[in-house]
Amino acid sequence: MTKIEELYQTEDWKTEKHVPAIETKEVGEGIKVKATVGKEISHPNETEHHIRWIELYFKPEGEEYPIQLGKYEFTSHGESAKGPDTSGILAEPKVVATIKAEKPGTIIANSYCNIHGLWTNEKEL
Ligand SMILES: [Fe+2]
Repeated sequence: MTKIEELYQTEDWKTEKHVPAIETKEVGEGIKVKATVGKEISHPNETEHHIRWIELYFKPEGEEYPIQLGKYEFTSHGESAKGPDTSGILAEPKVVATIKAEKPGTIIANSYCNIHGLWTNEKEL
């Protein structure tokens, strides 16, 4: 049986970047979390090849289970009634969430490319 963690990739290859970059910044009483696929080298955003979603989790230090912060679906990749790559409307794989966390822990960002599968990254808070 395949374990889900075996399907997540953490290192990138070729000239495409799939691993979600995580940036955090304190804002007021909260923490702004930004996750981006293709921050340094753009990932294709075409009808046939694109990033479908990014999801964010927080795993508090010392706790057993992660807490899902959000899941963001990118549903427009150029398709229209005229065919693939005709609309010029593209949802870019970037998300910003503001969270509050009373404990330190780890932000985990997962992403899914419709061609190249599951990717993950994490950052300590
Ligand atoms: Fe890809």
